[in-house]
Order: sequence, then C-alpha cells, then structure tokens
Amino acid sequence: MTIFSGIRPTGSIHIGNYLGAIKNWLDLQDNHDCFFCIVDLHAITTPFQPNRLQEDVVRLAAFYLSLGLDPGKSTLFIQSQVKEHAELAWLLGTIAPFGELARMTQYKEKSRQLKPDQINGGLFYYPVLMAADILLYQTEAVPVGEDQQQHVELTRSLAQKFNRQFGQTFKVPKVLIPKEQARIRSLRDPERKMSKTDDPRGAVSFLDSAEEIKANVMRAVTDSEKGIKYDPEKRPGLANLLTIYAALENISPSEAEQKFADCSYRDLKEELSQQLISFIQPIQAEYQKWMKQPEKIKAILEEGRAKAQPIAQKTVLQAKNKMGLIG
Ligand code: AMP
Ligand code: TRP
Repeated sequence: MTIFSGIRPTGSIHIGNYLGAIKNWLDLQDNHDCFFCIVDLHAITTPFQPNRLQEDVVRLAAFYLSLGLDPGKSTLFIQSQVKEHAELAWLLGTIAPFGELARMTQYKEKSRQLKPDQINGGLFYYPVLMAADILLYQTEAVPVGEDQQQHVELTRSLAQKFNRQFGQTFKVPKVLIPKEQARIRSLRDPERKMSKTDDPRGAVSFLDSAEEIKANVMRAVTDSEKGIKYDPEKRPGLANLLTIYAALENISPSEAEQKFADCSYRDLKEELSQQLISFIQPIQAEYQKWMKQPEKIKAILEEGRAKAQPIAQKTVLQAKNKMGLIG
C-alpha cells in the first residue's frame, strides 16, 4: 500500500502524537511505500514565529529520525518544498463545499480558541490542503489519530467527487486509526485531547526533562473513586493513564488494569512516570545527536523531496488535464 501522513512542526511532539500516529508509522514502514511529511504549510495557519519555523522543521525531522523512521525505507520531506501541494489544494478547493468546510470540528474548535483577527482563510482551507497532501501520492491508507478522521473522510469525498465529475484520477484512501490509543487525553483536563499548544502541563513532550515528566504525571487529574478500574466513560483521567501505560508496554488496557489492581493512584503514577522517562530518555539522546548534524537532516529531507516531487507532478498534471486546464 501507499501510505501518507504528516505532523505540523510546532516545537516538540508529545506522547499523543507518538501513540496516535508515529507508532503506527513505524510498523507500516517495513512493508509499505510510506511518505511522512513535515506539514509546514499547515503550521502557518495558526499564530507562529517566522524566525523559528525553519528550526522547528529540523527539530521535527530529528524526532522522526530518532523515533526510528528510516530514510532508507520511508520518504521523509517538507511539504512546502513540493509546491504541487499548494497547486492541487487550489484545484480541490473548487469542488469542496463551503458548508462542509465550515462544519469541520477542528476549524470550529480552533476558531473558538483564537482571536477573531487570527481566524484566517488558510485555517478554513486547512482540510483541503490536507486532502491535496494525501491525494497527490495516490495514497491508499492514512495513519492518524482520531482527531483527523473527519479530515480523511472529507479527503475521500473530494476524491470521489473529482473522479465522478472529471473522470478517474485519484485513489480513494482509507483512514488507519489505532484501537485504544487513538485519542490520548490531556493530563490536566481529561475532557480534552493532549496538545502541547493548549496546556503544556497536560502533555508529556519528548523535550521534557525527567523532572517535568514526573511532575506532570503525578499531578494528572483523575477522580475521587476508589480502586484502579479501566472505565473510559466514567473515569476518563484514570483510563488515560492506563491507556498510555498499556500502549507503551504493548499490552491491553485491561491487562494494565489487572497489573495495578491492588495499587493506589500514586503507585500507578509513579510507575507510569518511570516508564515514560525510560522510554523518552534514549530518544532524547538520539535527538541530541541528530540535532548536531543539521546538514545531514537537510540532505535526507532533500532526498525525500526528490523522490516525492515527480510523483506529485504527475498527479497534478493528470488533474489539470482532466479539468481542461493546460498542463
Ligand atoms: P498534530 O500535532 O496536530 O500535527 O498531529 C499529528 C498527529 O498526531 C495526527 O495524526 C494526530 O491525529 C495525532 N495526535 C495529535 N494529538 C493526539 C492525541 N492527543 N492523541 C492521539 N493522537 C494525536
Ligand atoms: N492535519 C494533520 C494534523 O493536524 C496534519 C496533516 C496535514 C496530515 N496533512 C496531512 C495528516 C496528511 C495526515 C495526512 O494532525
């Protein structure tokens, strides 16, 4: 299968990005044709610092590499370096129903959080650019966390509509969402998803020190019930801690529940902190090594661009021809 996915370069990734998306990517890269992108054009739809953007791109690439994405197996590249992403987004935008874009949950949520003058056209158009990312490579499957499911469904409907209206052009991709860890919740507010931009104390970031990880996990919001039970509906905070523990241990949440059956919340949090620290520290060490070789990272991303662009060019040419534009 051809696989495509991406993450926005916004400083550091967190354990939600890893469990919701990257862990799946690592399994897929051995047997599939994978494209993993650094979606910088998406990053500029919300407030950002121009003088930090390039460094954030290199940082995210360093995380991709330290976590085990292998440029010998997967194509790693920067979205803005393949201008066909923007070009196809324009073409697809002309068939994207305005009402459907206005109903996108992420757009509505972001618009609520931002000041009115920060809500820009790019934010509204975000899912169309994401559809272009995916369709350019004739992608068959898109491994993402649950929050992106709606965007992949829109991508499918845009592909189908384009094929119907102008003739067969795009493969219609399916979404790949992990079973239990598709939505890791904030440690501070279990009603919300873990996100480094909302509340950093609610996230376990790959750049956090051992002390920060421990402090944030020990202060994680749970409930006032007794005993360790995996019940995502009634006890979302506790279920989230068990989910993270189980996913990193490659066991099911109910196995984790059994393991901690006779423990206190405090014991569970202590054990989870230790587990997270031992998982993250070696990755941080790898990351530091990569960050000393920015030229090597840039060369890998350039190699990725050189592999991705001819495929993207071919698809855009087909789409333009089908629409009656001069290719
Ligand atoms: P982003 O940082 O928003 O670009 O997200 C990159 C990837 O991580 C996407 O596939 C998201 O679905 C996934 N992701 C982000 N936050 C979470 C979360 N809290 N739980 C699970 N997956 C997540
Ligand atoms: N919108 C995704 C997110 O916020 C990132 C993204 C952009 C993406 N383009 C993509 C994910 C294409 C999968 C495929 O997480």
